[in-house]
Amino acid sequence: MLTRYGGPETTEVRDDVPAPSPGPGEVLVQVKAAGLNPVDIKTREGKLKVILRYPLPVVMGNEIAGLVASVGSGVTRFAVGDRVYARLDKLKMGGLAEQAVVHEDHLAKMPASLSFEAAAAVPLAALTALQALRDELRLQNGQSVFISAGAGGVGTFAIQIAKHLGAKVATTASPRGDALVRRLGADVVIDYTHQRFEEVLHDYDGVFDLLGGDDLARSFSVVKRGGTVVSVAGIPEPETARRDLGRGSALAALFWIVSFGTRRTAARHGVRYRYLFMHPSGSDLKEIAALIDAKKIEVVIDQIFPFAKAKEALAYLAGGRAKGKVVVSMSD
Ligand SMILES: NC(=O)c1ccc[n+]([C@@H]2O[C@H](COP(=O)([O-])OP(=O)(O)OC[C@H]3O[C@@H](n4cnc5c(N)ncnc54)[C@H](OP(=O)(O)O)[C@@H]3O)[C@@H](O)[C@H]2O)c1
Repeated sequence: MLTRYGGPETTEVRDDVPAPSPGPGEVLVQVKAAGLNPVDIKTREGKLKVILRYPLPVVMGNEIAGLVASVGSGVTRFAVGDRVYARLDKLKMGGLAEQAVVHEDHLAKMPASLSFEAAAAVPLAALTALQALRDELRLQNGQSVFISAGAGGVGTFAIQIAKHLGAKVATTASPRGDALVRRLGADVVIDYTHQRFEEVLHDYDGVFDLLGGDDLARSFSVVKRGGTVVSVAGIPEPETARRDLGRGSALAALFWIVSFGTRRTAARHGVRYRYLFMHPSGSDLKEIAALIDAKKIEVVIDQIFPFAKAKEALAYLAGGRAKGKVVVSMSD
């Protein structure tokens, strides 16, 4: 549970938290495992307060796998005992707990071939990769995409989804992640510890940026004119406020200002820039489950921690070296 914004000392394990109850259209899930993501660290540190402000204390955790414990009125697609997974409501979280409430539109049956721990590793990162590559980059068979940081939580899904869509994939990885990203299908692997990717890659159809900062700035020269750079780690732009966050002109104006330099760089290269803030989606998760069960997508897990070590799990993830996903198991 997050008690105030700050460092690791601001989270604690508590046994006095009232169990949530499902409202109309909602499902109560007995959580078996919860995935961790960099957004958990950013949330804890208060870096996302402009867009995600929680009444504290709040139960952290953005994605889960578990069993349906009960359903609220009007729920038709799920029944008690179903094995399910979800990316939880961004404005509520609540995954690092014995029970969590999810709207049925955000929920899907988990891949039949996976354990709860592996299923909990999927929702947030795989949805992000799918929505960026399919909906924003509109990647087509035969096109090319550069995905930075291919060995991490989002990158491991993104490489495989891009290959499934029929694209040529280039990625960056250190020697620690080289074998992994090649196994997942990357066609070109650049060791970012020795080489700058923009010296090697040219005329790509799109970039999926997972790093922001200098890496994002350099990625514009990789794309051909008319292409698109989609970032999930750089600077939000006005469309992020309106489309992804459903917010009005004040936030859009703020994002217009902070993204000015990035958008100007994009315009200079004749490239479209988009910052995506992913959204929960049960229907997308159903599609992803089918791909996993068909062995088109492998779920890469770096480490599974017991719930009692959730703090250590967050600290490990914050180190930024995870290969694939970090998961907390509720059954240990
Ligand atoms: N906007 C959204 O909706 C959204 C959604 C999901 C994620 N995100 C953001 O996307 C970013 C990535 O998330 P993630 O879950 O994939 O993170 P992650 O799992 O923590 O990424 C860790 C991986 O990044 C690699 N890496 C670190 N620096 C690198 C560099 N300079 N070049 C290439 N690889 C590098 C590391 O490899 P080495 O150890 O080998 O260096 C490590 O394997 C985060 O900032 C996250 O907040 C945003």
